[in-house]
Amino acid sequence: MPSPTPFLYDSAAAAAHAGAQQVAEALREAPDDVPLALGVSGGSTPAPLYRALADEDVPWHRLQVFWIDERFVPPTDERSNERLVREALLNRVPIPAANIHPVPTHLPTAQAAADAYDATLRRVLGDQGGLTVAVLGVGEDGHTASLFPGQPLDHPGRRAVHTPAPDTSPVRDRITVTRELIADSSTAFFLVTGMKKQDIVERCLCDVESMLPAAKVHARDETIWLLDREAAGPCGVALKRPGL
Ligand code: 6PG
Repeated sequence: MPSPTPFLYDSAAAAAHAGAQQVAEALREAPDDVPLALGVSGGSTPAPLYRALADEDVPWHRLQVFWIDERFVPPTDERSNERLVREALLNRVPIPAANIHPVPTHLPTAQAAADAYDATLRRVLGDQGGLTVAVLGVGEDGHTASLFPGQPLDHPGRRAVHTPAPDTSPVRDRITVTRELIADSSTAFFLVTGMKKQDIVERCLCDVESMLPAAKVHARDETIWLLDREAAGPCGVALKRPGL
């Protein structure tokens, strides 16, 4: 599993736009003998990437969309990742409704939602199948998806689990895909921007001993970090620039 490839962009907008182009290219170039599947994260960072992706050339009719993680709230809730991605991307592209697989947060408990989502991932992707592309973010504490520091990082035999977020999080009950599912996925793009992420980027990319979830989550073929100058910080001088 190759180590992360960081790319440095002059602004958050440039990083998001480049991310949309690279996600679209990865989806176009994927083999057609396995499901074409995109995993999307929530939070405040990726919406510009999703909006730009809606204008890219993507085989929407073939694409299956899953959520990397979800807060256990209704899709009408302003904290819902489903709501965020539908508004920024899915409502603007010709993707068949049956190909959109939100976490079933209408079920009675977060555990029931995680179990149902695990089954959906297996039904569509296969028991060992992964995503074509995973779009990930990183929290200031080093979490990614809803895999938080101090929580188990490995969930062998599972494709999705129920995890408790820290008390400081917008919603405590989370459903997340597992590190194992991302490891079975072809390409992961971390989109990380803003001054507040500078410390965690350095800890994840410049400390080979880091045990932070965002440092330990990798895709099978390629893991790319898309950074703006603020998030890259002093480590940025060591990062590749696009096209070089
Ligand atoms: C969520 C996201 C989460 C996100 C990080 C970073 O549900 O919050 O899926 O994994 O990627 O928390 O969030 P920001 O982009 O808001 O910094």
